[in-house]
Amino acid sequence: MSATAQRQAVSSADTVIAGPTSSAVVVRPIGDMQGGGINVSDIKKLEDAGYYTIGQLLQTPKRTLKLIKGLSEAKVEKLREVAMKLDSRGSVFKTGLEAKEARQAVVSITTGCTQLDQILGGGIETSALTEVFGEFRTGKTQIAHTLCVTTQLSFASGGGQGKVVYIDTEGNFRPERIEAIAERFGLSSMETLDNIIVCRVYSHEEQIDVLKPLAALLADPDQGPIRLIIIDSVIALFRVEFSGRGELSERQQMLGRYLATLVKLCEEFNVAVFLVNQCMADPGALAMFGPVIKPVGGHVLAHASTTRVMLKKGKADERIAKIFDSPLMPEDEATFRITNGGIDDPV
Ligand code: GTP
Ligand code: MG
Repeated sequence: MSATAQRQAVSSADTVIAGPTSSAVVVRPIGDMQGGGINVSDIKKLEDAGYYTIGQLLQTPKRTLKLIKGLSEAKVEKLREVAMKLDSRGSVFKTGLEAKEARQAVVSITTGCTQLDQILGGGIETSALTEVFGEFRTGKTQIAHTLCVTTQLSFASGGGQGKVVYIDTEGNFRPERIEAIAERFGLSSMETLDNIIVCRVYSHEEQIDVLKPLAALLADPDQGPIRLIIIDSVIALFRVEFSGRGELSERQQMLGRYLATLVKLCEEFNVAVFLVNQCMADPGALAMFGPVIKPVGGHVLAHASTTRVMLKKGKADERIAKIFDSPLMPEDEATFRITNGGIDDPV
């Protein structure tokens, strides 16, 4: 794809977030509520709190909205009333056929490996959280880097025609790797890097706080569509900063709220979320019956992730991916290879 075509591919977003064959997902900005009698200062308060669309507002319980400084109970009622009138998502009840139609907007982004795409049902899906976990050097960060590039490919080439946000909690993002992978896919390395927004965070608080400007980015029509959010890794900072059993429930509550916000964002903006997770030994597992490792994060992460993939080392540069939990796909395995050009088919 030429550099111009690439730029066009990622800058044609507007507020319509389209899928490859869809009926687009229409995102209605919160500013539209002004016409319904909500004043500018209340809209500003909502934006400052990270709410940029009417859909986001309706996804949020009233008790949470009441915590926003300057919003009284009566005002929250009024906001919801106006938002419901302007809601563009149609009836809360949908037929199976309508649900099928809505899923036409979902984009599957290629991982760079045919077999891995196949076991995932086509690739990493938008409007869903895909989690990978595995021991060190199993390729989690390499898959993330490959997705940074493939997300920018055209729909016809298995891409998402969009930009990427990389939330880096461990200092793992490497522009040189992106350049090498972009070259493999015939993309301009400068353009490709320009379409990746990297955000290095150092504490779990920063990781959580970044959700607000992230929502602003997703809602910004000048940004072009953001199709993928990578969080590498989702839990490392939480694990370091909360220690011992005594702090576990507080940690899980915070993680749960964080993930719930991510789930809402990915559905509202039809964006894929790729979570890198850590693993631990599973003392209850017998090697001959299955995995001897399990993902960390407990039920909170298990419930938030749509699809969970376990990674294992294979021989030399080969790695094995196994579907651990999916609403749609069987527990298949795929072999992929880590190469200079990113994740690839085995030889
Ligand atoms: P942790 O973050 O430590 O948990 O590991 P990870 O699962 O994120 O591992 P990562 O994705 O970083 O994969 C590391 C593996 O990729 C190592 O085996 C490296 O040798 C390999 N690798 C990294 N860069 C390159 C490269 O440019 N070319 C090739 N061929 N392999 C690479
Ligand atoms: Mg890594």
